Amino acid sequence: MDRNAPVGIFDSGVGGLTVAREIIRQMPEEKIVYFGDTARVPYGSKSRDTVIRYSRQIIRFLLTKDVKAIVIACNTASAYALETVEKEFDLPIIGVIRAGALTAVESTRNGKIGVIGTEGTIGSGIYTEVMKQMNPQVQVTGKACPLFVPLVEEGLLHDSVTDEIASRYLSELKGRFIDTLVLGCTHYPLLRSTVGRIMGSDVTLVNPAYETAIELKGLLAERGLACEPGAAEADPGKYQFYVSDLADKFTAFATSILPKQVKETKKIAIEEY
Ligand code: DGL
Repeated sequence: MDRNAPVGIFDSGVGGLTVAREIIRQMPEEKIVYFGDTARVPYGSKSRDTVIRYSRQIIRFLLTKDVKAIVIACNTASAYALETVEKEFDLPIIGVIRAGALTAVESTRNGKIGVIGTEGTIGSGIYTEVMKQMNPQVQVTGKACPLFVPLVEEGLLHDSVTDEIASRYLSELKGRFIDTLVLGCTHYPLLRSTVGRIMGSDVTLVNPAYETAIELKGLLAERGLACEPGAAEADPGKYQFYVSDLADKFTAFATSILPKQVKETKKIAIEEY
């Protein structure tokens, strides 16, 4: 495996850019190929079988770009597909759930942890399962917040409508006296200030995107796959973006999220992979 090859990152759409952003911040030397499945988003309300099929296609596409490792940036795809695809493909693949779960288990003081995510992620029970394996004593309360994704995609990050909906979703978790809350969906770190205000300063918010970047860094170092410093610097294709639809809309959103301007996004026919 070429250590200077890119890291593949994929998500159901734009949300995984929060994970790409953390990877760029923490590992500025790495090359990235990002795929956003903008034609088939959302994954959060789809079945396990469908999300596994989509994930396989995307991994096959990323392999054509000679990636050295893959990050499943989507919580729903991590919940449904990681276990299957890591057995099927011969390269390191990580999801976003384990890293976020571990940080939550290590952060909680009273053992009461909340998780918010899509219906798929929460319904799968994966965060509870993984956290209980790490510490059987923790009590985990999950809450699906399906309206958060469209609110973020509409740009309503600081809006009274978002405040109202967030208050309703989070009231149940407040009633459970959690002291740690996992933002278990790619889009939710963008609502961090709203969620933080409603939950109060005593509740620690865990952003799996941040923790996943740390996990990736460790994994690449351990396997001798970290990019040589400076190797990608002059490469005009250091960051490549692909989507299954609406490339220009993606480019605009990506430019607003990432530290660098995104010049071009290519549309590909993902069903062919
Ligand atoms: N990327 C998804 C996740 O993190 C959210 C958007 C969707 O439902 O596809 O679960």
